[in-house]
Amino acid sequence: MAVLIDGKAISSQIKDELKAYVAEKGLSDKLCLAVVLVGSDPASQVYVNNKKKACEYVGIGSKSFELPETTGEEELLSLIDRLNGDDSITGILVQLPLPLQIREDVVIRRIAPEKDVDGFHPMNVGRLSIGEKGFVSCTPAGVIELLKRSRIPVEGKECVVIGRSNIVGKPMAMLLLRENGTVTVAHSRTKDLREVCKRADIVVVAIGKPKFINREYIKEGATVIDVGIHRMENGKLCGDVDFADVESVAGAITPVPGGVGPMTIAMLMSNCVYS
Ligand code: GUN
Repeated sequence: MAVLIDGKAISSQIKDELKAYVAEKGLSDKLCLAVVLVGSDPASQVYVNNKKKACEYVGIGSKSFELPETTGEEELLSLIDRLNGDDSITGILVQLPLPLQIREDVVIRRIAPEKDVDGFHPMNVGRLSIGEKGFVSCTPAGVIELLKRSRIPVEGKECVVIGRSNIVGKPMAMLLLRENGTVTVAHSRTKDLREVCKRADIVVVAIGKPKFINREYIKEGATVIDVGIHRMENGKLCGDVDFADVESVAGAITPVPGGVGPMTIAMLMSNCVYS
């Protein structure tokens, strides 16, 4: 039976450490995250609220900017310009996805890289890829933190990342490489995904398909990290991994909910505090 990697407990521990650091260094009045939400997507509203609550918990400021669904690109860009130039704002987060009339890549590039706490700006992506300091995308940073705090070594291990998105798969591969893992990035066009996956000591699944990965993909004793989150017909949440099936073969596994999800916010707070 696999060891359960408790992301909820680990994320609470990180937030408590950040809270203590903010208090000790007197950073409370010096840090403020601007959270920008365009439109009224219910999932995005939940995420944004959780981010604001986390700021409050850690003891840093947050300011919310909620714009209507019909907002034009220029209007959003001029808000970002204003936030970039406002010294009281130390982090800027524009919740994705954006409505179709707004180009996400244009918006991401407009955020000043030194306030880009999501780590999405090409400058921060580039820094990660050449091993320089910079903001790192929160979900993959959270996965690394889960592995470290669960004492699961990466060095020399076969790591397979399933998914190649800019937000998760690609930065995940870079981070595992930085930890001296041997990294394979698999995706929807990968041939023999099952065989590729079965080589892995550590599998990070960000494929976007509910319960896609079953025990046939997993080597005995492997660590399985599930980045997916889906709402099933019965209202319950599940990941990209068929947890009940994989649990009996894996060495360690993250649950959904309560695995990677809470870590994303903890790492956002870490980016805000160490900005
Ligand atoms: N939408 C889904 N995940 C994220 C994230 O990590 N940051 C932002 N800004 N939007 C998201």
